[in-house]
Amino acid sequence: MIIGVPKESAAGETRVAMIPETVAKWTKGGAEVVVEKGAGAAAGYLDDMYTAAGAKIVDSAKHVLGQADAVVKVQRPSLEEVAMMKDGAFLLSFVYPVQNLDLVKALNPKKITCYAMDAVPRISRAQVMDALSSMATVAGYKAVLNAATKSVRFFPMLTTAAGTIAPAKVVILGVGVAGLQAIATARRLGAVVEANDVRPAVKEQVESLGAKFIDTGVRAEGTGGYAREQTEEEKKMAQEVLAKHIAAADVVITTALVPGKRAPILVNADHVKSMKPGSVIIDMAAEQGGNCELTEPGLDVMKHDVLISGQLNLPATMPFHASQMYSRNMHALLSHLYKKNVLTLDFNEEVCRDACITHDGEVRHAATKAAMGA
Ligand code: NAI
Repeated sequence: MIIGVPKESAAGETRVAMIPETVAKWTKGGAEVVVEKGAGAAAGYLDDMYTAAGAKIVDSAKHVLGQADAVVKVQRPSLEEVAMMKDGAFLLSFVYPVQNLDLVKALNPKKITCYAMDAVPRISRAQVMDALSSMATVAGYKAVLNAATKSVRFFPMLTTAAGTIAPAKVVILGVGVAGLQAIATARRLGAVVEANDVRPAVKEQVESLGAKFIDTGVRAEGTGGYAREQTEEEKKMAQEVLAKHIAAADVVITTALVPGKRAPILVNADHVKSMKPGSVIIDMAAEQGGNCELTEPGLDVMKHDVLISGQLNLPATMPFHASQMYSRNMHALLSHLYKKNVLTLDFNEEVCRDACITHDGEVRHAATKAAMGA
């Protein structure tokens, strides 16, 4: 089997799908690994390290994609990259198939077996393959560091000759994997942290990290441990309770998502107006439309003297560890699907079934099929 690792082609993407540590595992197991020149350079993994791990370095994406039996990427491939792949090849990356039906349509005529890291089921046994959680961990950490850098205030309490400085008040809205990491990081920097989520189970986790849970009275637990969309009445109730916490905050970090929906608006223009000058909002849901009404995805903007950051792809700003975590998750999934370097699919098994988007010219992923009207 030849595994191909092209350099990521998406703008601003600095991660690499497979790091030398993982390459060594495959080459020791008898696979060949072909890496595009400079594929890991932006993440701190140089060509020499890949060569030492047993990989072959080639000059272009065309040379990688044209010979690989299994292509591994972080971001989904472009249509041009799909065109360069061998017929019947295997592909593994983040795909978000429902939002990228044109890509799905391009895979089938080539009979590409496509697996999506974003479709791995969130079950205990698949935690080792859960790249969504890994990237959320990186993003939650980095969001807090960005907030601390952009803030006009200290995070920790300081007792100095110039007097005592009060600790920053940080409010975190949405406590999934990213929110939990954001709480932990803000606490490590010495901030006083409050957090809210619509899933009641989260209260205990928030408190165990030394933060205070803001109870809005809203309970909106959906299926599979995820949140459901709030009703208009629930939204109003939550916004009223959150108003005084947001007004008192130096930093607000929002991470709230509802599967398959636009991100809910939790911070409206009046909330922003109520904040102190120099306060910071980091909107981690910018990619899904944003949790703050005034967020401009991809930009840092000043509104009512508050800095609102809608920076996208935070994991790409910490590519060494983001790539390491991604590569390990991806290795776990790939070795689950390949037995002795041969693709061995058992569609009765949950991970094998749920994470598969296309196989043998057919769309197998239920939500993608539904979106295509098939
Ligand atoms: P996510 O990134 O999909 O969403 C972030 C958070 O936003 C969620 O906690 C959600 O409840 C919250 N939220 C949604 N609407 C909100 C609103 N209006 N106000 C406040 N908060 C709101 O979340 P993530 O990190 O993917 O985790 C979600 C679920 O998945 C959790 O139940 C978690 O335990 C589970 N999970 C399971 C894993 C496993 O077993 N392998 C791994 C990771 C997560």
